[in-house]
Amino acid sequence: MEELTIALTKGRLADRTMELLTKAGYPCEEMKEDSRKLIFRNEDLKMNFFLSKGPDVPTYVEYGAADIGIVGSDIIMEEQRRAYEVLDLRFGKCRMCVAGPESARELLQHHEMIRVASKYPNIARDYFYNTKMQTVDIIKLNGSVELGPLVGLSDVIVDIVETGSTLRENGLTVLETVCDISARMIVNQVSMQMKAERITKFISDVRAAL
Ligand code: PRP
Repeated sequence: MEELTIALTKGRLADRTMELLTKAGYPCEEMKEDSRKLIFRNEDLKMNFFLSKGPDVPTYVEYGAADIGIVGSDIIMEEQRRAYEVLDLRFGKCRMCVAGPESARELLQHHEMIRVASKYPNIARDYFYNTKMQTVDIIKLNGSVELGPLVGLSDVIVDIVETGSTLRENGLTVLETVCDISARMIVNQVSMQMKAERITKFISDVRAAL
């Protein structure tokens, strides 16, 4: 049996992913233990699992360090790495939005030169420049992006909205929706050829468990 290495996204998606993989017949007991280990193995299945920061998952998959990755479609769009996107896992659902104070709505409508803060500069650039044909100033932040409009760094943000409570609690609102987001399975392009049978079976087992 060919070896298979899977890169998982640390945090919100990890538990849901392992639940799904277990249901599909690909459990990893080692991962349930409380430890500082980074790589986990299921010897019977000849599979390795590792957890990494979301934006690194497509990198591991593009370079073939992982055959398969499970990651949000926001990160796939932002990172623009080479990999096949093979399955929508239909969890981790949220929306990529333009958000800000209600007063910023007018700036968006009149295509003013505004400042946009985001952890997703590529998505923000693509949306404003290519979809809306609006020239904006994009400022990359690394987290707590909602601070941008609150402290006067930016007029609006482009960020993920799940329950909407972060926006609500900070007096901000969704002004426009960029796209829907969910967790996806991606596959290294060479692995897809070299381990075709094993990976095709893996995809269909996971699809059946959805
Ligand atoms: C994400 C996102 C929003 C929040 C949205 O941040 O950037 O801030 O979750 O979720 P909600 O609509 O349910 O409130 P995350 O928790 O990943 O932290 P970060 O902003 O520090 O990256």
